[in-house]
Amino acid sequence: MAMAHPKLALRPFLPDDAPVLAEIFRASVMDLTGEDYTEAQQQAWASTADDEAAFAKRLGHQLTLVASLEGSPVGFASLGPGGKIDMLYVHPAATGRGVGAMLIDALEKLAGARKAEKLIVDASDTARGFFEKRGYIAQQRNTVSTGDEWLANTTLHKQLAAKPEAP
Ligand code: ACO
Repeated sequence: MAMAHPKLALRPFLPDDAPVLAEIFRASVMDLTGEDYTEAQQQAWASTADDEAAFAKRLGHQLTLVASLEGSPVGFASLGPGGKIDMLYVHPAATGRGVGAMLIDALEKLAGARKAEKLIVDASDTARGFFEKRGYIAQQRNTVSTGDEWLANTTLHKQLAAKPEAP
């Protein structure tokens, strides 16, 4: 039977993934967000992964999933406390193939299994449309200090489906 994404797979984050995920993060920010942020803002944002030990610690403390295409990591997403989606980044060479959707669908299922009632995300202006398409509703605009720059994002919420009562 045909499958939608035969070569795409998900697995949990391992500490050894940190360098390649930092590369994906930097490439994603620098190549995909230029219509919404200035180059100085992109540089400040991308440089937040330069301290790879801190980057690895952040991902390791969260529920982090890695998406791979034919065995190579191409994207990742992480879920922090309180149902907050902290990170979602797809390598520029792998966008538009359902990687982001697969990652967020999986985080939503895992959060639901943990009885989270809603998910929250501070989405970049680049990713806002992606989340809105998946049923997330904008709540407020934010401006966040990153290095010497200020970056705008939007907080969105998605109510997870209520579980049916046990008979
Ligand atoms: N606006 C509207 N729709 C979008 C967008 C967008 N920016 N991006 C993707 N979509 C749609 C696709 O067309 C697709 O629609 P379909 O189901 O009708 O075919 C659907 O969303 C799923 O798209 P995917 O292919 O799964 O998305 P992709 O793998 O390209 O990843 C992402 C999207 C994560 C936004 C990627 O472009 C990216 O990494 N962007 C740059 C980094 C970024 O801004 N990350 C978010 C930071 S905020 C945070 O981390 C919480």
